[in-house]
Amino acid sequence: MRKVKAAVFASGTGSNFQAIMKASVENKLACEISLLVCDKPGARVVRLATNYTIPVFVFDPKNYSSKLAYEQEIIHKLQTLNVEWIFLAGYMRMIGPTLLEAYQNRIVNIHPSLLPAFPGKDAIGQAFAAKVMTTGVTVHFVDAGMDTGPIIEQASVAIYKGDTKETLHKRIQQVEHALYPKVINDLVYNSR
Ligand code: GRF
Repeated sequence: MRKVKAAVFASGTGSNFQAIMKASVENKLACEISLLVCDKPGARVVRLATNYTIPVFVFDPKNYSSKLAYEQEIIHKLQTLNVEWIFLAGYMRMIGPTLLEAYQNRIVNIHPSLLPAFPGKDAIGQAFAAKVMTTGVTVHFVDAGMDTGPIIEQASVAIYKGDTKETLHKRIQQVEHALYPKVINDLVYNSR
């Protein structure tokens, strides 16, 4: 059976992209990753995609007159490839109305906190500084706000005495890497 097509949007290290690709290579992903979209030429995730021989659209927003202009180009690439789902994995830009409208309820993000707690940048640092005992990971639909869309699934991560931001980050990443491919599969299967 032909698999539904999806794109991953990422800006940086790409460890979540790697987890998704690992599931894909092991034939444990319900969709095919047809494109990586990256707004940071030179990001590690671009090299990863090349290693996996995944097509990449890398763009520098500075070369476009507006968000509308680059989002229109992204949409054109996605539609050419018949992409049905967009999974954000460390994509450090707000999604604009153009993309939100073209992919209604089809754009998903992963965030390293139990939303609505600690939205935005450095969620792990925010949780650590707040001295809470539990934080976690959220997978949610993307809307026009910053990490405000409907929550799909969450997983808790305890913060232990003696944790540093780094040790906490590592445990959160492990949870992210297991949770995101699983939620992707649930979404794709349930939308058939
Ligand atoms: C992850 O913590 C994800 O939850 C957040 O950005 C980070 C991306 O990390 N949205 P990586 O690039 O996948 O390693």
